[in-house]
Amino acid sequence: MHLPGISGNKDGTGVFRGQGALSHLEEILPRYKNILIFNDRDGFHPCGAAAYFKALGEKLAGRCALQYVSYSGKALPIEDVETKYLEIKHRAGIDLITAVGGGTVIDLAKIIAIAYSNRCESAAEVLSSPNLDNRVDLLFIPTTAGTGSEATSFAVVYKDKVKYSIDRPGLLPAYTILDPMLLRSLPTPVLHATVLDALAQAIEAIWARGSTAEAKEYARQAVRLILANIEPKNTIERLSQLQEASHLAGKAINISRTTLPHSISYPLTSHFGAPHGIAVFLTLPGAAEFNYHTTGETVQPGVRPADVEKSFSLLFSLFGVENIKALREKLSAIIIRLGFGARLRDYGIREGDISFIADSASTKGRIDNNPRRATRDDVLKILKEII
Ligand SMILES: [Fe+2]
Repeated sequence: MHLPGISGNKDGTGVFRGQGALSHLEEILPRYKNILIFNDRDGFHPCGAAAYFKALGEKLAGRCALQYVSYSGKALPIEDVETKYLEIKHRAGIDLITAVGGGTVIDLAKIIAIAYSNRCESAAEVLSSPNLDNRVDLLFIPTTAGTGSEATSFAVVYKDKVKYSIDRPGLLPAYTILDPMLLRSLPTPVLHATVLDALAQAIEAIWARGSTAEAKEYARQAVRLILANIEPKNTIERLSQLQEASHLAGKAINISRTTLPHSISYPLTSHFGAPHGIAVFLTLPGAAEFNYHTTGETVQPGVRPADVEKSFSLLFSLFGVENIKALREKLSAIIIRLGFGARLRDYGIREGDISFIADSASTKGRIDNNPRRATRDDVLKILKEII
């Protein structure tokens, strides 16, 4: 069920953009009868979306029913998905699932949408049954400028602190609302951590083994927009451009998938609590240098050293640098400029921890998507440089 006249992507996604785009809810919601609204417990009210939904719910009373599901966790454990699934599992006739929040809330909605579509006994069935897909219409309203989860067909969930990626075509939403007004109440450190995620995703999409010309084009636009908005300014224009960049980076990794820095980041988040964007960006400068030195012996199957060289030519031109040393320095400077420490010890990680991190850093589908093959020793070396 799609509305006519929406600027659609080729994947059929209806995207509403710009200040006040939230008002498109008035056209979308009346098309449905039973609507679930997943939301970030801490951000839903401050960003203004809660009041908007409440007013609209009153207006639509008797025509459609709205049910809210709040969540406030960070790295999404499957136990939390189960608890939230129980809240809605027995409700009949849900025909629209909405998520208002950052990547975690959107991923929660995605996994529950698959479980609900297939009348699963438990949400964990989604992890063990790769053929189950979502069949309910989805509407995603991001309130951060980071993961781009609204533009991807995958969701991340943790089981026993190990990261699982669920990847199903039915997870692309029917509608996306990108309204920069929703980002105004985001605390600056949260905004900036999510910007680091978006920038890392765009850079990784350029060098990824799975990259294509289309992915590179989305990534190129995302990097441009982020670099033009690094300087912290509190303007709606900056928020709008960062939000668009995050969406473009999401579209890029939806094609290319992510690589080594994302692979290493998962234990940093699940065991040491480093926010996702920071956890990814910590190893990004080292991973860039590591990938730059790809040779015929170390390149992944399906990639040529010349492809890696071309990716770095694009990165050098985007960042206005001439060599890998300058690129690495520029990347390290960005994490500091956005207000964060660039070393592992800034997040309570000590020398004695890095062997364990290297053991847990090999995430299938991520490390093997890196253009250069990376061994445990390679990961250890990257980590040691930033202890
Ligand atoms: Fe990410």
